Amino acid sequence: MSRKHGGLLNGKKAIVTGATSGIGYATAYLFAINGAEVIATGRNEDKGMDLVSSINKSGRKAYFIKADLTKRDDLDLLVEEAIKKLGRIDILVNNAGVEILKDIDETELDEFTSLYKVNLFAPFYLMKKVIPHMRENNGGVIINVASTAGLSPYPGGGAYCSSKAALISLSKVAALENSKYGIRVVAFAPGLVQTRMFFEGVPEDKREEYVRETAKKVPLGRIALPEDIAEILVFLASDKAWYITGSIVVADGGLITGRRESGNVPPEGKK
Ligand SMILES: NC(=O)c1ccc[n+]([C@@H]2O[C@H](COP(=O)([O-])OP(=O)(O)OC[C@H]3O[C@@H](n4cnc5c(N)ncnc54)[C@H](OP(=O)(O)O)[C@@H]3O)[C@@H](O)[C@H]2O)c1
Repeated sequence: MSRKHGGLLNGKKAIVTGATSGIGYATAYLFAINGAEVIATGRNEDKGMDLVSSINKSGRKAYFIKADLTKRDDLDLLVEEAIKKLGRIDILVNNAGVEILKDIDETELDEFTSLYKVNLFAPFYLMKKVIPHMRENNGGVIINVASTAGLSPYPGGGAYCSSKAALISLSKVAALENSKYGIRVVAFAPGLVQTRMFFEGVPEDKREEYVRETAKKVPLGRIALPEDIAEILVFLASDKAWYITGSIVVADGGLITGRRESGNVPPEGKK
């Protein structure tokens, strides 16, 4: 990835979870390119260091903090270290997520709980830790990456869809509780995005075909790239989005609005 320096997030200090892959990786990178100092976190140290070094090479500042979001000690340390390194936190992006696709009767309680730990409990706990700090600083922005799955469920999504629906609700409550402190909270719901999660179980040589076939379901006829989503997150995290709080921002190419009409293909040369 290489982009021209922008400045929408100049001087901002941000934490991005799930920054070792997909949407989080692209978001941490683009936040930095737009002027933010970034704490990127995840479990995969190699990927985290790779991200930080590409940010540093472009003349911007970022740090990697390894953390398993299912572990409370890691969550405590993440926030402590982030404040130590950055001095303050203006933006928290709860992006990390996991998915399982299993009918309810086939889902083990442990699987359900593990998914909830990453998708819901970690965002809750990180908000709990970061909100008092943001209040002291008279403001901040929290973006919780949910999913259209939290708005439009499907069979096999008992754990995933319900975790994202709960995250949307939690975001709204957080927005209402914190608007008087200048803190905005947004639930962001992407549709289909070409990441590890999207390609789960699809062999490397079948990916192109999978994208082509799946894109037929999307009114805009495309599956987003992580960078497309990161661009939207930069805007939502920026002061330009100051009037957006308590909302669900959907970016899904029209997926949950309705079925794509046959023959509705993007114009030639369009992404
Ligand atoms: N891709 C889509 O089509 C799509 C659509 C709607 C919503 N979303 C949501 O977008 C977010 C990002 O997903 P993605 O598509 O970019 O997925 P991805 O490429 O699989 O990345 C998931 C990220 O979550 C991190 N993560 C998972 N478990 C963790 C744990 N226990 N501790 C710390 N980090 C953990 C991973 O880090 P490590 O690998 O380092 O553990 C990785 O960085 C998720 O919340 C997902 O639900 C995705």
